[in-house]
Amino acid sequence: MLVILCPILAYIFLISQQTIQQIQSRIDIIEIVGSFVKLKKRGSNYLGLCPFHNEKTPSFTVSPTKEIYKCFGCGKSGNTIGFLMDLEKYSYVEALRWLANKYNVEIEETAQSEEQKQLQQSADSLYIINNFAQQFFSNALLHSEEGKDIALAYLKERGFREDIIKKFQLGYNPSARNELAQAATAAQYNPELLQKSGLVVMRDGHLSDNYRGRIIFPIHNQSGKVLGFGARVIKNNDKAPKYINTPENEIYIKSRVLYGSYFARMAIDKADECLLVEGYTDVVSLHQSGIENVVASGGTSLTPDQLRLIKKYTNNLTIIYDGDSAGVKAALRGLDLAIEEGLNVKLVLIPGNEDPDSYVHKIGAEAFRNFIKENKKDFILFQLEAAITEAGNDSTKKAALVNQMAETISKINKTEEFTKRQDYIKQVSEILKIEEAGMNALVNKLIRDKVLKEENRNAFKPGPSAEMGTESTDEGLTFFNTDELNEQAFLRSLIEFGNNPWDESNTVAEFLFTQIEEFGADYMLDNTALVRVFETYKKWYEEGLKPTAKNFLYHEDRELNAMVINLMDYSTEISHNWKERYEGHIPTREELFKEEVLSTLNYLKLRKIKRLIAENQTVMEKSTNEQDQMLCVDMHIALKKLEKDLTGAMGTVIFKI
Ligand code: GTP
Ligand code: MN
Repeated sequence: MLVILCPILAYIFLISQQTIQQIQSRIDIIEIVGSFVKLKKRGSNYLGLCPFHNEKTPSFTVSPTKEIYKCFGCGKSGNTIGFLMDLEKYSYVEALRWLANKYNVEIEETAQSEEQKQLQQSADSLYIINNFAQQFFSNALLHSEEGKDIALAYLKERGFREDIIKKFQLGYNPSARNELAQAATAAQYNPELLQKSGLVVMRDGHLSDNYRGRIIFPIHNQSGKVLGFGARVIKNNDKAPKYINTPENEIYIKSRVLYGSYFARMAIDKADECLLVEGYTDVVSLHQSGIENVVASGGTSLTPDQLRLIKKYTNNLTIIYDGDSAGVKAALRGLDLAIEEGLNVKLVLIPGNEDPDSYVHKIGAEAFRNFIKENKKDFILFQLEAAITEAGNDSTKKAALVNQMAETISKINKTEEFTKRQDYIKQVSEILKIEEAGMNALVNKLIRDKVLKEENRNAFKPGPSAEMGTESTDEGLTFFNTDELNEQAFLRSLIEFGNNPWDESNTVAEFLFTQIEEFGADYMLDNTALVRVFETYKKWYEEGLKPTAKNFLYHEDRELNAMVINLMDYSTEISHNWKERYEGHIPTREELFKEEVLSTLNYLKLRKIKRLIAENQTVMEKSTNEQDQMLCVDMHIALKKLEKDLTGAMGTVIFKI
């Protein structure tokens, strides 16, 4: 019975702790991150181009041993689950389900608490709503009288086969005022979220369908979930826009979406080429003809995010250009960036008034394929030819053209692109009828200028070593704080060595708990986030868990896991120089753990005592009666003794940069 109640019920169940552990034990961060980002091995880590910001030199690092990723460019860091959450906009639970599916772990579910239920994010709900709507639309298209008579008939008349309609999950929104809105309300979807999804709008106090009487093209993310929709009118009519698209919301971010990428990803990988067209129908038609490595830009210029999406699969981008289409012209504007990103961009011009959809219907799949192969033009040379025609005999325009071409070629500046660049210099010089050496010099000058500019900019960026114990200020500068470093070092030793024996009867953790009890964690630690880490550790320990960094790493609370990632990221590897200089045995941190535990603890105790001394002094200065003053003096002596004992007990090591 449960099943039919409502789809949201799926979210009232929580994945069991046991399942989570099973998933965690199988996670291979290199495999997961590597399926989204090209990674190269560098020492014990892997390096690649950060998927979260636009960069040309890789600063995105993945550590297989620590099971974390970290970008030294934009600062994003996290574990495998966090990676999926950030990149694919999954919720924690969705990321776990994705991983469970990938590693064939069967999910065991337990009931979710009231509080957890409320944590359900709006992004989750939007995916659920979209999924519901997609099914509703498909059903309306394939099974309702109106859908069959009007929409399905139209699609078939245009030549779309039923299998392809089903594959792309095309649908129909009935023309009545609110069929979808009613169905969604009956299924208890939240009215605010329904409006956010763009599927319905509020009119005269009632929810009405936004895509009434339109054919629906669901837009899928990389893993096949519906992010949003494009909705096309059936009969062209001047009053209504031809297409309405989902408004931007938490999950539909237009600049990151390429229509069809979910269905194209494998074919792009296989063909090592991505075809870019303009419209939804172009994608669907080409697929139907067996040309599957195709995506659509939706008629806007390509964004850096879209280029990055393409680059994940291939370096070869072929744009299918339909002569007078404003949309493809717009797409061409993004192409300097594509060249800079190292993509090889080619263009194919479709003749006449055709677009890829109509042209493939006209000449057939085989001829279309050949047409593309034979008419592919290099984008840079194409641009040049067009500009030469435009310049005619105007010598000023021609001179400007030389500079413009040098500028374009200078964007091909990656080391591995040297041959490609020289090739262009040669061809462009020939076409422009100028000396190759001159063009070469010009291009090299532009590259040098750019490198210099970049170096100047980078000189003000903190390097990787400045990541620990830093406080960012508005200016982006970073400062070190010894107190903060020692607080972090204290927690690091707790997390790392907590389960080690301290003496015959206590573990390190137990020893530290009793020590901290004297003061209270919040008196010992200024940083409230670290207090939370401590309290969480203690709670787990008392529940019988033997906590390690991993428990934090995979904790649902992203603030907690980011905190611990920063803590554990501290470089503890001994440098090669050190190894060469000192012969024989170098004690490791593990061997010196007691010293580390004591020294960090003592630093914090000492700090506390110094603060008490200062406080006591203020009280003494303010007090007016002798008795109070005497008490303060006694207190002062006692504190000073404690301070001396602590400093004498061991050469307290203070963590410093
Ligand atoms: P058909 O005419 O059915 O073949 O559709 P098409 O996809 O070929 O449409 P067209 O070539 O006119 O437009 C290309 C793409 O631009 C579409 O797929 C949409 O993504 C987008 N587009 C076209 N018209 C509109 C519009 O009125 N509004 C919005 N937002 N986008 C549009
Ligand atoms: Mn079309």
